[in-house]
Amino acid sequence: MSDSTRDGAKDGARDSAVWGRVDRYLEAALLPEDPVLGAALARNAEAGLPAIDVSPAQGRFLHLLARIAGAHRILEIGTLGGYSTIELARALPSDGTLVTCEYSPEHAAVAQANLEHAGLADRVEIRVGAALDTLPTLEGPFDLVFVDADKQNNAAYLDHAIRLGRPGTVIVVDNVVRGGRVLSPGDPSTDGTRHMFAALETEDRVEATALQTVGTKGYDGFVLARVR
Ligand code: SAH
Ligand code: DHB
Ligand code: MG
Repeated sequence: MSDSTRDGAKDGARDSAVWGRVDRYLEAALLPEDPVLGAALARNAEAGLPAIDVSPAQGRFLHLLARIAGAHRILEIGTLGGYSTIELARALPSDGTLVTCEYSPEHAAVAQANLEHAGLADRVEIRVGAALDTLPTLEGPFDLVFVDADKQNNAAYLDHAIRLGRPGTVIVVDNVVRGGRVLSPGDPSTDGTRHMFAALETEDRVEATALQTVGTKGYDGFVLARVR
């Protein structure tokens, strides 16, 4: 029996090594070499940032969501080196704007350099500081919000995202599964996310779903919500 027959889709789905290989295959088919994104990842690595950016396929997914939504104003919580910021900002029309919140001045400086190199600095504002301090100072409405910072505050971030939205605003929350740890109360990587899901049980201001994902970043998932 050939390898491919023996590892049918069902077995492959349980084999984490294949998730990464399939992501590389999809990237080769769908995502041509992108010098700007490549340079951003290189600058991030050079600066010692953790490699926890969205994957190329996830970045393109965010870009497409913003395009589909026709977003003019985007809010991001958690910039890191600006990899997801670049994908989102590229979806904006020339008069569109993106605000991104980042706690670390070091990360923000790397992101600023990456955005300048990408030719996007004119439409992106990095707000340095704890997002919970910045968010109350922002004025909506935003058309799309991407939540990807410290996971402990996910419930509060979702609340701000809704408050800063309008009917139809798209909200994405990254890393809501964490290898299944979302099932374990008390795990610091998912406790805040569990608070967010508890709030969603009675949250009537959004319609929401969550999808589990596998790929180069392992097993995780995201929430997709739309403000009513
Ligand atoms: N969205 C990025 C990855 C973000 S990683 C991408 O896909 O490219 C998470 C980022 O959130 C880190 O840079 C971290 O410094 C930042 N962060 C952590 N706590 C924060 C807080 N309280 N407020 C704002 N940003 C925070
Ligand atoms: C981590 C954070 C992220 O936003 C992510 O997408 C993956 C991992 C982390 O803090 O480990
Ligand atoms: Mg993330």
